Amino acid sequence: MDMGLQGRVAVVTGSGRGIGKAALFALAREGARVVVTDISEQAVTQTQTELVTAGFDAIGVVADVCNAGQVEQLVANATEKFGGVDILVNNAGFTRDKYLAKMSATEWDSVVDTILKGAYLCTKAVLPSMMERQWGRIINISSRAHLGNPGQTNYAAAKAGLIGFTRALALEQGKFNITANAIAPGFIETELVKALPTYERLRDAALARNPVPRLGRPDDIADAIVYLSSDRAGYITGETLHVTGGRYSS
Ligand SMILES: NC(=O)c1ccc[n+]([C@@H]2O[C@H](COP(=O)([O-])OP(=O)(O)OC[C@H]3O[C@@H](n4cnc5c(N)ncnc54)[C@H](O)[C@@H]3O)[C@@H](O)[C@H]2O)c1
Repeated sequence: MDMGLQGRVAVVTGSGRGIGKAALFALAREGARVVVTDISEQAVTQTQTELVTAGFDAIGVVADVCNAGQVEQLVANATEKFGGVDILVNNAGFTRDKYLAKMSATEWDSVVDTILKGAYLCTKAVLPSMMERQWGRIINISSRAHLGNPGQTNYAAAKAGLIGFTRALALEQGKFNITANAIAPGFIETELVKALPTYERLRDAALARNPVPRLGRPDDIADAIVYLSSDRAGYITGETLHVTGGRYSS
């Protein structure tokens, strides 16, 4: 099936590794030109090198999604190299788990800012380019945790907030042929979850409770990103696609 992504320009935040990296490779395989961007310089260099070695058209830009100046530079670099941005995946994010009674303001702010302010800054920076082209795809990586997980009030609030952001943005941008959708992954085996002190318990619970009895893979999310980025999904906007192997509640 032709997804209509040949030549499209895609920026995926936090794409030095994990789900974002898998998304870049999946989009590039469909013919998109891609921008690796991450707060980690080493991860950007590594992933860009792998993409270019595989024969794909890719640039790398180190940027913190919470830093307005760095985000503007990211979009300027993408525009200078590829002429504009067609697809933005707001993927950068992390957890700082603690029960609320013990959660510091720093733990709250760092998670909420990266997920919500990051999405605001990156989306605002690419919208002029998309509006000018009368075509755009914004995909926000939420989480099944938007339904609530103990120890994740910061993360759950931010991921639920991202769904509200998506729906409001969809209402604003539909007339410009720009869609905005969210993806809510379940347990996907990446460095992020492997670093959690609760990793083994979460992994075993996922295996025991997932209707599709396996762990999620970065490519499961990347495939959903490709579909929502494509011409085939042009009439879908404001939606949240759960990619969880069928599991909803904890
Ligand atoms: N892995 C899962 O089970 C899972 C489930 C649901 C949602 N998610 C979400 O998917 C997204 C990707 O997760 P992952 O599992 O691939 O994580 P990961 O830790 O493997 O990758 C996240 C990347 O984001 C980068 N990053 C962090 N803060 C940043 C910032 N301020 N600016 C730019 N880059 C930054 C990190 O350096 C890292 O390379 C996250 O938003 C996460 O919340 C993951």
